[in-house]
Amino acid sequence: MNILVLGSGGREHTFTYKIAQSNLCKNVFVAPGNAGTAAIATNVAIAVTDFEAIKEFVLKEKIEMVVVGPEGPLVNGITDFFAQDNELKKVSVIGPSQEGARLEGSKEYAKEFLYRHRIPTAAYQSFTASTVNAGKQFLETLNPPYVLKADGLAAGKGVLILEDIEEAKTELENMLTNKKFGVASEKVVIEEFLDGIELSVFVLTDGKNYVTLPTAKDYKRIGEGDTGLNTGGMGAISPVPFADVDFMNKIETQIIQPTVEGLAKEKIDYKGFIFIGLIKVGDDPKVIEYNVRMGDPETEAVLPRVKTDLVALFNHVSNQTLDQVTIEIDPRSATTVMTVSGGYPEAYEKGKVITGIDQIEDAIVFHAGTKRVDSKVVTNGGRVIAVTSLDNDFREALKKSYRNIEKLHFDKMYYRKDLGFDL
Ligand code: AMP
Ligand code: GLY
Repeated sequence: MNILVLGSGGREHTFTYKIAQSNLCKNVFVAPGNAGTAAIATNVAIAVTDFEAIKEFVLKEKIEMVVVGPEGPLVNGITDFFAQDNELKKVSVIGPSQEGARLEGSKEYAKEFLYRHRIPTAAYQSFTASTVNAGKQFLETLNPPYVLKADGLAAGKGVLILEDIEEAKTELENMLTNKKFGVASEKVVIEEFLDGIELSVFVLTDGKNYVTLPTAKDYKRIGEGDTGLNTGGMGAISPVPFADVDFMNKIETQIIQPTVEGLAKEKIDYKGFIFIGLIKVGDDPKVIEYNVRMGDPETEAVLPRVKTDLVALFNHVSNQTLDQVTIEIDPRSATTVMTVSGGYPEAYEKGKVITGIDQIEDAIVFHAGTKRVDSKVVTNGGRVIAVTSLDNDFREALKKSYRNIEKLHFDKMYYRKDLGFDL
């Protein structure tokens, strides 16, 4: 089978790495890809949101499966675009329909879904410019800190957590009236603050059945000790040590099952990943968000632990036969440490030569923001290269990742040296 992966980050390099190992895969293409995917697959210079160009390529190369990495094309309806096109409708798309993608595309939609299916989550109300005063009154009824969320996609920046009520009211006004996040903040969800430790679970569903993939914990802040600005993610650990059997059972019965049943009941076409962001409050899991794709860098830690053939799993998703699968997971821990460009997540330079990749031993290198220029690999984004290691204990795995990262070099390279500090 010929397979096309959409995206260009560490997540997509990891998908490509797993797909390329499968006997079920003949050729794998990545649009647009990076220097890492170019080494194991064929990159094609097509943007993930250019559906017409994707169509042309899929027909030309006889692609039978498209694996969608990022949320953008899903929220824009790539799955429906394939399903509604006579020439494309036989192609399997791994990723939900546009309706399903609203779970990530609209915070209000996600909250309403959670409430409809009685899935534990923070209490909330949503507001628009015409109800901004009611929003301020609602803030008065809550205890600090105050959680304000832009309804739409805001490149991971749309959530504000504020200690001061006056600041919260001003920011609410900025979001609704002054469109601080553009159309994304024409509506704002105000939420109860949940105090606890975060983790994520990943589910692969065919719309009826599902398999639960390993848990992971992401480190989102740029600075050590979880300080400074939010990033796309500075590293991940899988599994999450505090997610024991009892807690996982609660997640399964209170969150995963009602989510998949809810999608089916509402006749939402959903064949793909569900990434559920959770907070453990006391002994109980509560949902903070849904994403309709895998996480990055969580994928780099989660998928190397999945021993079951990924393409076989995707075939079961397409055929709605995931009930026939028992997924095999490597019991070892995986840790992923992300190297980033100096300055990230604010302004940074690109085009720095990366050396040392060929010296990595007993670890896996996943490229994120890289590209090949002549014979060199250079930086091409904020997050540059992830190093994943496996060992019996996450601390041992981390040591391997750090030992290997010391061999990597590019001008102004930075990474967090404290992953797992909170575990
Ligand atoms: P989100 O984009 O919804 O994942 O929110 C971004 C981050 O804000 C999350 O990863 C949490 O750290 C935090 N957050 C979101 N909602 C809440 C909440 N209700 N209580 C506490 N922290 C939250
Ligand atoms: N690492 C967080 C995300 O992929 O959204």
